[in-house]
Amino acid sequence: MFKIIKFKKLDSTNKKARSYNNFSVIIADEQSKGKGRFERRWSSSQGGIYMSIVLPHINKPQFYTFIACLSVLKACKVGKIKWPNDLIYKNKKYCGILTENLGKDKSIVGMGVNINNDIPKNLSSKSTSLCNILHKRQDINKLIDNILFNFKKYYKLIEEKNFSKIISDWKNNSFLGSKVKIKTLSGIYYGFANDLDKDGFLIIKDDKCKKAKIKEGDIYI
Ligand code: BTN
Repeated sequence: MFKIIKFKKLDSTNKKARSYNNFSVIIADEQSKGKGRFERRWSSSQGGIYMSIVLPHINKPQFYTFIACLSVLKACKVGKIKWPNDLIYKNKKYCGILTENLGKDKSIVGMGVNINNDIPKNLSSKSTSLCNILHKRQDINKLIDNILFNFKKYYKLIEEKNFSKIISDWKNNSFLGSKVKIKTLSGIYYGFANDLDKDGFLIIKDDKCKKAKIKEGDIYI
């Protein structure tokens, strides 16, 4: 199903992936300008997984982010999902997903996973790696195979429009129930992460049980 193309070094696998056809997978050993959400940088030295999958456009591209998170989580087997796109272990992030939609044409799902790479000092209070978590260097190629194997299975659910199965897997592996602060473009919200609705938006509940739907933002647990 996937055609894998590997590079030693790229500026960004998401950027490179734009010129490839659907179901191409672009992988780099390192990136010089790894992109994060909200135009942030993604630190991308050797030893991490930097991988972008080119996929057909769908009406609910947020589900690509969810299945990417689930696929990495099931391969790495540690931590939980923090809405919408992070994998967290003991309050530190080890994976981020950046889904970019290129009009009605295609979507690029980029996964950055800290595996054996060094975490820069300035990020060490909020980021970690699988090697740090498990105290053992990891086999990157095996992990990539495993992530893509999981992704294929989840992609099938998207083809079958079985979004409810994706949502229930996501909920079972997430921080739902935790107290959160959310910084969005329209302001700051406090409450409990209460639910994920059928479109994949986060529902939070404040202490007066008033609910709000969050469509974008950064969550602090
Ligand atoms: C985030 O949490 O802000 C998302 C980070 C996504 C990083 C990955 S690394 C592979 C792909 N290529 C990029 O330039 N970014 C994504």
